[in-house]
Amino acid sequence: MPQADFLLGTSMEKIFVARAIFPDVLERLTQYFEVEANQEDRIYAETELMEKLRGKVAVLTTASETMSAAVIKANLQLKAICNMAVGYNNIDLNAATAAGIMVTNTPDVLNETTADFGWALLMATARRVTESEHWLRAGEWQKWRYDSFLGADVHGATLGIIGMGRIGQAIARRSIGFNMRVVYHNRSRLAPDLEREANNAVYASKEELLAVADHIVLALPYSAASHHTIAAADLAQMKRSATLVNVARGGIVDDAALIEALADGRIAAAGLDVFENEPHFDPRFLMLKNVVLTPHIASASKATRHAMAECAVDNMVVALSKQRPPNLVNSV
Ligand code: 8YV
Repeated sequence: MPQADFLLGTSMEKIFVARAIFPDVLERLTQYFEVEANQEDRIYAETELMEKLRGKVAVLTTASETMSAAVIKANLQLKAICNMAVGYNNIDLNAATAAGIMVTNTPDVLNETTADFGWALLMATARRVTESEHWLRAGEWQKWRYDSFLGADVHGATLGIIGMGRIGQAIARRSIGFNMRVVYHNRSRLAPDLEREANNAVYASKEELLAVADHIVLALPYSAASHHTIAAADLAQMKRSATLVNVARGGIVDDAALIEALADGRIAAAGLDVFENEPHFDPRFLMLKNVVLTPHIASASKATRHAMAECAVDNMVVALSKQRPPNLVNSV
């Protein structure tokens, strides 16, 4: 990590922090740069964001800020866009690359925390944890019944993972204790040693996976190619008893099709941390009992969110010291 003195003798460069972040991380940034921050956490419209970026050489964004081609073209003085997220589909990568702007993300630091949460959603969904809690809180619990909230077993079941990157592999490793069989689908097949570590995961086509899995977890990055990876036709291929968990990105699932499938009992249940058009997700989800809904918190442990913020700052400091930042995602 370069020391603050790489800037000694020069006036500090101006950067923008687009959303509220941990105060100590913000404080660290001020040692290196002249910082304009948004600790009141306003959500800026595209034109406001363009304005805020004027004169700034770098911006720390989260996945909620759309760094469109228009925003980028209006701010060609930018040298780096440092996203505090592993996913960077909020950034127009082609526009940034064409403008010679470095784009960085925060991989790895969130793998285990996100995998933990994938499991939290899977367990809660299969075993109807939130549905039964709502029922209990509503004062409905008058007697025990043999068939109250019967769910699906997780142990011994077949786990299907679509997107077998670092997070998908961390999810697979956790299944060893549940004595599960793992099938996965990915753009490319993993090396044999990685398959072994991932609970002897077996590579399958999407169609094969949809047909055999009892529980499916989505952990793939969003791109034009992965848009609606799970649409009506895919839901129709799943077991009626299956659960679907999405800890990846909104848009990977066709939410309207999923709502229909859940309402018709076409699949048993879904656990969703991400949605199309979040936070303004389809309100019909709220009418369904067989869905567990969380507000994009899969990486939200204190330690991990802090590590993500630190990682984004590390990337920015290195990028602005004219070196290659550790998590550069484009070729500039
Ligand atoms: C973030 C995420 O919390 O890293 C990602 O891609 O989706 C989450 O971990 C969120 O996107 C904040 O930027």
